[in-house]
Amino acid sequence: MFEVLPLLPADPILGLSTAYREDPNPLKIDLGVGVYKDEQGKTPILSSVAKAQRILLQTEDSKTYITPQGVQGYIDGMLELLLGKGHPTLLEDRVAAVQAPGGCGALRILSELLKRCDSELTVWVSDPTWANHIPLIGNAGLKIETYPYFDKASASIKFDQMVDCLKQVKKGDVVLLHGCCHNPTGADLTEQQWQVVLELAQKQGFVPFIDVAYQGFGDGLEQDAYGVRLLSANLPEVIVAASCSKNFGLYRERVGLAVMVTATPTIRKSIQTQIQSIARGIYSMPPSYGGALVDIILHDDELKAEWKAEVEQMRVRMQSLRHLLVDKLAEKGADRDFNFVNKQKGMFSYLCISPEQVQAIRTKHSVYFVDSSRVNIAGISQNNVDALATALVDVL
Ligand code: LMR
Repeated sequence: MFEVLPLLPADPILGLSTAYREDPNPLKIDLGVGVYKDEQGKTPILSSVAKAQRILLQTEDSKTYITPQGVQGYIDGMLELLLGKGHPTLLEDRVAAVQAPGGCGALRILSELLKRCDSELTVWVSDPTWANHIPLIGNAGLKIETYPYFDKASASIKFDQMVDCLKQVKKGDVVLLHGCCHNPTGADLTEQQWQVVLELAQKQGFVPFIDVAYQGFGDGLEQDAYGVRLLSANLPEVIVAASCSKNFGLYRERVGLAVMVTATPTIRKSIQTQIQSIARGIYSMPPSYGGALVDIILHDDELKAEWKAEVEQMRVRMQSLRHLLVDKLAEKGADRDFNFVNKQKGMFSYLCISPEQVQAIRTKHSVYFVDSSRVNIAGISQNNVDALATALVDVL
């Protein structure tokens, strides 16, 4: 029976890692998949995480099943990180949440929940958005439309056009927003723009679906939660998919959280049973390990302070790599001003070059990044920035 299924092309993001691995060029540069790398190109285990692993090894005394919602300490700690201590929705007992296998798992089960609520609703995603949003939401059987977001020519957000489009979104539809560090563009909404989105949601009656995969990598852990906290505090319903892949460096452990802010505590109870039944029908319950580590870190003052300092160190380093690249491009005589890269936030930058130029830099110079021109800023280092800028100037 399998012969009916064709060979599929490589994943537009994950496929880059395979192509990079197979490239024999010793000077190759990997700016593809969004993982943090240090100056040596390594993705280290955070020191706070390593300590939490040692604690877990000594204290975990059973491998029996965990509860269907996941590690409760993890959920509580993450809700505080996302919403802030004493957020009104928490005090009013309106928040349902389950641990999920990664941010992807959260996006997928939340999409299934939306489908249960209204199989006809449309999810509006930014143009562009993270490539995997489309299958994660679309495979749940939901319709997807795009709203204008980023203008390549000016390398900035088309906010007026975004607003004009959102004014047409109907009650009950869902608008996917990136909580911070927009993937792929690195262009984030300002606090004033979040306020406008809130007013639109109140007026139109659409439900925000916020993907928070990079909290702490933009302006800081608290600042990056601005949008999520504002919308949750002022709307009856908001959904959030959060990930610990990047800010805890727990990529392979698949640690995510699905959050549903509901209108009343009674609805919260029903929705908690619904999301758990969706998870039960797909993977039963989440793996506990990564969540248990985050629980340990977030509930130990010393480890939490250490983790926060590590997140800040990654954030500041990525910011300095932006400057390094922009300065190097100017030094190499690039005929375009790349200063916009300094203003973008988080792990990614959209270089605003054509797919043909991206292909050319890959084949001629073994520099790997996504066709859209998204680069992983964390893949830049003092060692490769010269070669990278030379290659970019060559294909421009
Ligand atoms: C990325 O955008 O590169 C990461 O989120 C990894 C992935 O799964 O695509």
